[in-house]
Amino acid sequence: MLENMTVPKHVAVILDGNGRWAKKHGVPRAMGHKAGCETLEKMVRIAADMGISYFTVYGFSTENWKRSAEEVGALMKLFRYYMVRLLKIANENNVRVKMIGDKYRFAPDIIEGIDNLTEGTRNNTGMTFVIAINYGGRDEIVRAARKLVEDYRANDKDVASIDESLFAGYLDTAGIPDPDLMIRTSGELRLSNYLLWQLAYAEFYVTDCLWPDFDQKELEKAIVAYNSRERRFGGRK
Ligand code: IPE
Ligand code: IPE
Ligand code: MG
Repeated sequence: MLENMTVPKHVAVILDGNGRWAKKHGVPRAMGHKAGCETLEKMVRIAADMGISYFTVYGFSTENWKRSAEEVGALMKLFRYYMVRLLKIANENNVRVKMIGDKYRFAPDIIEGIDNLTEGTRNNTGMTFVIAINYGGRDEIVRAARKLVEDYRANDKDVASIDESLFAGYLDTAGIPDPDLMIRTSGELRLSNYLLWQLAYAEFYVTDCLWPDFDQKELEKAIVAYNSRERRFGGRK
């Protein structure tokens, strides 16, 4: 299906619809999240095999803490379980894992799990798999501004040296190119605080497919659609 197609270098996904999938199947929401984690595990391998260089997924937003204690608890349990599995899968597939978001709001054992995953895969040279957890685009920009101000104050730097690329270096995504393609599953037409800075010129693709049902074919459809787009970045051909 992807013959003669350009595979985007960086694909970012808002994996939405776990709750709707659970409802459709008459099971608790937590089961929808578990099915979503299984899909994620599969998609990491598939994305790496397709030759995508950076694959970024939105797993938990800064706003998702507002959900019921029961649902947040179920998600934390899944993080604990899948972080360990992911370490193995990432190493088997030469995948480097990075986390973006503010990890310090998580329990100490989850922070340790995040560090193990990052450290344990740092020398892999294949795809970079970026997981956004306790991530919010606004929160990331505010934390970046704080880091920048602290650095400039401590080192008595000249504010005239601040430009877009310098600022981007203080974001959680420092060193990662901006996404080329942003996919949202489950039909919602909003960003939900995802990668506000980085998505400035990404092509958007929204599908009604619920995240637990997402597969290689769905990703290929998104890449075909991406190939039909005329990217402009503000200029004209
Ligand atoms: C996405 O699925 C996963 C998270 C936000 C953690 P949802 O839980 O948002 O699923 P819907 O939107 O209720 O279907
Ligand atoms: C966005 O999905 C966050 C993640 C996928 C982690 P939500 O389901 O939380 O977004 P809204 O509430 O529909 O905007
Ligand atoms: Mg949702």
